Order: sequence, then C-alpha cells, then structure tokens
Amino acid sequence: MSEVTGEKRQQPVVLTVDPDRLDEAVIEQAAAVLRDGGLVAFPTETVYGLGADALSEEAVEKIFEAKGRPATNPLIVHVADIDGARRLTNRWTESAQKLAESFWPGPLTLVLNKAEIVPDAVCAGLGTVAVRLPADPVARALIEKAGVPVAAPSANRYTRVSPTTARHVVEGLGDRVEVVLDAGPTTVGVESTLVSLAQQPPEILRPGMITHQQLQQVVQVRPHRGSVVDEAEARPSPGMAKRHYSPGATVRVVDEAAFRQALETSSESRGFIGFSTGDMGDGPRRVRLSLNPEQVARRLYAVLHRLDAVGVDEIIVECPPEGDRWEAIRDRLRRAAASVEDCRLE
Ligand code: TXA
Ligand code: MG
Repeated sequence: MSEVTGEKRQQPVVLTVDPDRLDEAVIEQAAAVLRDGGLVAFPTETVYGLGADALSEEAVEKIFEAKGRPATNPLIVHVADIDGARRLTNRWTESAQKLAESFWPGPLTLVLNKAEIVPDAVCAGLGTVAVRLPADPVARALIEKAGVPVAAPSANRYTRVSPTTARHVVEGLGDRVEVVLDAGPTTVGVESTLVSLAQQPPEILRPGMITHQQLQQVVQVRPHRGSVVDEAEARPSPGMAKRHYSPGATVRVVDEAAFRQALETSSESRGFIGFSTGDMGDGPRRVRLSLNPEQVARRLYAVLHRLDAVGVDEIIVECPPEGDRWEAIRDRLRRAAASVEDCRLE
C-alpha cells in the first residue's frame, strides 16, 4: 500500500453532484469513463461502490486490482431496471420477480444463475451472478447513462471498512480510481442484504437493513447462518470470510459491564463506541450511537473511519442490542472484531 511504501499517490477527479438536482453533464462525464473501461466510484444508498462496465472482463479486472481483492470473491452487478437484471440471469425466477417488485429499487441483492453474457471474472467462476437495482438517484442516473450494467463492490481496499462518504473513498483508494462522484453521506450506511435464489430454500448470505422478517413476508428465506463458519466448510458466499470490514485499530466487543469499566480506565490510544450506556464522558474518541438500528447503521462506518483517523490502537464497542433490525450491525461488528467477550453476536 502506498502509505507503507511512501509512494506518492495522485488524487482522483472528484465531481460533486446534488442528488436532488442532477447535473447531466457531470453524470455523462462519469458514464463516459465507465464506457471506456475505467473505474468510477459512486454513491449508492448503502455505501459507495467502485464501478466498472460489468460486461468487460478487462474493466472488471481493474476493480480487483484497485481493491487488492482476491479473484475468488465475486462482484455485485448494478442495473437500472428489473429488465436489466433479468438479462444477466439465465432464469429469472418467480421469487426474484416478487422480491424485486417488493424491495427494488433498494438495498437488496439477489443471487441467481448467470446468463452467458456475464464474464466469469465478475462471478469468480461460480456460475451465479449477484444483481441489484439501487435506489440512489445518482447511482441510477449513472447506470442509465453508461448504458451498461455496472459491477461494483464497496469502494474500499480489501477487508477494510466500506466508505459512506466520497472522502473515505479518496482516502482508501487514492488514484486507483479515476473519478469519484460525491453526493454526500449515504443514507442506509451498511451493505445490501444479499439473498441467494440459486439454491433451495433461498438463504440470506449477508444480512442488511432489509431484514429476514421483511423478506419472509414475500418469500420463504432461510435466515443468515452467521459468518463464523468452519474454514474447511464450503462457504455459500466467498465474501463471508470472517475477518472483513475492519478498521486499522483492533476492535473488541464487550458486554455493558466491561464497557463501563473500560470507560473509567481510558487512554489516548483507545476509542469507544456505545449504544445504551448513559454518560460516556466527552472527547473525540467516545461515540455514543443510539438505540435506533437505522440511525446506527447510517453512522457506524463513518465512526470507525473517524476513530482510525484519530489514530487509536484499539476500539472498544459495547455489545449491540439483539433483534431482526440489528442483524446487519451485529454481523459487521462481529467481522470487524478481533475479539468478542460476553456478548452473543452469532
Ligand atoms: O450495498 C452493497 O451491496 C454494496 C453497494 C456498492 O452496492 N456493494 C457491496 O459489494 O457490498 P461487495 O463486493 O463489497 O460485497 C459483495 C458481496 C460479497 O460478499 C460477495 O462475495 C458476494 O456479495 N457475492 C457477489 N456475487 C456473488 C455470487 N454470485 N454468489 C454469492 N455471493 C456473491
Ligand atoms: Mg465490500
């Protein structure tokens, strides 16, 4: 990484866009980069994505290189409408149609058997493809203008925390990306719910803010199994590797009592993230989130990025609440954490 080698990196071109008043010329500038096989980082409602033309093997390979991501971890393909998704699959199922009608555009990704046109590089040779129709107006305008489906993982280096602002993207990727569209902080804040429809019964491969209970109202879906699977056991999704979404600092999740105790013995090199604990004291290293999961999801990654920027070595996180709407947050914390003490995050 450049930070380690001291190699000087150029900055990408950052183009500001107002999601309420889209500047067509700016969107076209970014779309042209995609059509030419380049990389564009853009906002979605969940996190910023690092986009490339999904139908170009060469363009897609640039994503893996920029992220430092192993070729065995497949990408999500973003489309402008349901028809665009259907064209990427070889069998658009009834469940896919129902889920798409209920939750698209929105933070839900569907895994289905892939159509011939999708390059193997996108799907890591799995024979399935992950498709998503995002709700963010900038994302949708970009995909429409590009005229191609857009493969986009989160716009961060492999295993690091996903970006929820354009600044996070620039700090993480530098000029590994040509253009960054900046439309301010994302609104959902954690990655989409990933559901496999390429198996029976369908299963949640990655929890997100569209919850198991919400999905169940439309189709029968198995809940997320938890990401701590035996390494020897075949993982249904390669991205379910345990360590992921981690900041530079060591994250420790502890129960409320241990959290309160740690607050007493704080030092400069420690950051704190709480949920329920009343008075956490003051300072830039102490962040009290809330007991509302949607609010927490929106802020969580920005807080992890900020604590990293402040330069703490360790982040102590209070065990988050339980329940369907907390699943995504609990999953990301578990995967960010080096240790979990007296808190059931499974
Ligand atoms: O909200 C999101 O989903 C964001 C925004 C940018 O759309 N994207 C995102 O992409 O989180 P990424 O690449 O960081 O995570 C995609 C996840 C990975 O865990 C990957 O393994 C899984 O989706 N995935 C992609 N294609 C798959 C497939 N064919 N089968 C199973 N898992 C797949
Ligand atoms: Mg990611």
